[in-house]
Amino acid sequence: MAKSTHFETLAVRTQTARTAQKEHSTPLFLTSSFMFDDAEDMRALFADEKEGNIYSRFTNPNNSELVEKMNLLEGTETGLTTATGMAAVFTTFAALLNTGDHLLSCRSIFGSTHSVITKLLPKWHISHSYVDINKPETWQAAVKKETKLLYVETPSNPGIDIIDLEWLGKFSKKNNLILIVDNCFATPYLQQPVKYGADIIIHSATKYLDGQGRVMGGTINGCKKFVDPIKLFARHTGPSLSPFNAWIISKSLETLAVRMDKHSENALKLAKWLEKNKEVELVKYPFLPSHPQYAIAKKQMSAGGGIVTFIVKGGVERGRKFMDALKMCSISANLGDTRTIVTHPASSTHAKLTEAERLEAGILPGLVRISVGLEHIDDIITDVEQALKTSK
Ligand SMILES: Cc1ncc(COP(=O)(O)O)c(C=O)c1O
Repeated sequence: MAKSTHFETLAVRTQTARTAQKEHSTPLFLTSSFMFDDAEDMRALFADEKEGNIYSRFTNPNNSELVEKMNLLEGTETGLTTATGMAAVFTTFAALLNTGDHLLSCRSIFGSTHSVITKLLPKWHISHSYVDINKPETWQAAVKKETKLLYVETPSNPGIDIIDLEWLGKFSKKNNLILIVDNCFATPYLQQPVKYGADIIIHSATKYLDGQGRVMGGTINGCKKFVDPIKLFARHTGPSLSPFNAWIISKSLETLAVRMDKHSENALKLAKWLEKNKEVELVKYPFLPSHPQYAIAKKQMSAGGGIVTFIVKGGVERGRKFMDALKMCSISANLGDTRTIVTHPASSTHAKLTEAERLEAGILPGLVRISVGLEHIDDIITDVEQALKTSK
């Protein structure tokens, strides 16, 4: 059979070479190190004269399977896995940026990524500028001769802002920037930024790639030119993913397509329902025509994904009361789970930001983020409806 190019088949059928045990499902390679045939074999592997596993901090069959699968799904050349999504973000920055370099990003990014950019990178004299995601015409003025890297999330967490990837690819090429996209909210099933010229794709595999709220993980995939130095950096500094977690995440990718279809279907239904509710001021979801970047979302995403945000009338207090009134939906810090999870960013994930920083990132006091799960949509709506009523 000719090799399939279909997403679903690649996600299911990409697998480590079968061992002598003739197992059907990929086994777990829980081993710290690997054997060499002889001293010459060991020398040649360490000298990079041949490929093979040496030590699980460098590579491991479970991690290699996950990397290969992600390369096929994202359309990238090479990659590596990391212990968490933040390890993926930090390892990428640390490997590619040097003292004196400048990074360009949007304020609309995940809280810990914001902390790395604003609190940690300055330790090594790496500076940054934030540009307004909704005003691309202002971006050129923010590019300096030291600007090396452009980092974006689309859709962003938790603002659900969307950037035109086609425009972004051209902009980064024109300015000779390394374009990094955190594709965590969309996943490669809904959006492949590489098609538009992204150089590196980052994921918190903790989210939809695992999809069942079990393990932490991160992935970095992209072109060899930029990812090979990150691999070398990771080999020496050790942010590696445990083989067990790699095994879980790779297995989960087999169901990514069906899960993302259902997450998106449920989320769109909930978003439409919320838009009609009188207790709700504003609903943001990529595939709602009211989303400011609806046309762009339609152009670059095949569905809207599983995250919906809304502003409940009554500010922070009402937001907290709403969460306390939920009976089925979980109050938890994660997203991308089979279970519907509700968070109130202003009092939790983004509480360490100043009020001004929160507003700049679009995090209003009453903003509620729902990671819409795979329960029956009627049950999700019933729970949200009763919580809106009782929190009045
Ligand atoms: C968009 C985005 N990027 C990165 C991360 C960090 O991932 P992790 O929690 O796996 O370190 C998160 C976590 O919520 C996220 O939402």
